[in-house]
Amino acid sequence: MFLLVDGENLIMKLKIAIGADHAGFKVKEAMVKSLSQLGHTVVDMGTYSEDSTDYPDYAEKVAKAVSKGLSDRGILACGSGLGMCIAANKVKGIRAATPWSVDVAKLAAQHNWANVLCLPSRFVPISQLKLMVKAWLKTPFDKDQRHARRLKKVRKIESNS
Ligand code: RB5
Repeated sequence: MFLLVDGENLIMKLKIAIGADHAGFKVKEAMVKSLSQLGHTVVDMGTYSEDSTDYPDYAEKVAKAVSKGLSDRGILACGSGLGMCIAANKVKGIRAATPWSVDVAKLAAQHNWANVLCLPSRFVPISQLKLMVKAWLKTPFDKDQRHARRLKKVRKIESNS
């Protein structure tokens, strides 16, 4: 991550790992383009066509890039956003979320500190998904004690499993 000064604004530029299965392929392509245009560094981890493939393969790659600190954030696209979310959350340190609106995407950042966003490509139009990703990227984690306390409990479940 680095900061760019644009006039009086500080703009956060992130390294974002992205992956999709066949159902999310078109959404991934659109996201790679729009996130690159916004100045982020996008690492495309596949898939590279609409041929049938398995979502856990891409969820694992992207989630591990984030958990190892090789990327700041991860984005995954599949049909419902659910399979990717289930698989990504198996990787230690990952807080993956599947939003269905801009408000929910913001909350994923604000309350849950989600580091991976899983997009329901077959159910939400691309224009809306782009707004959701933008909102998630620019919303900071709300450092209110109650959210930190809850995330600490989430981490405890992870370490006790
Ligand atoms: C693929 O047909 C579909 O099952 C997959 O993209 C995803 O929605 C799974 O959760």
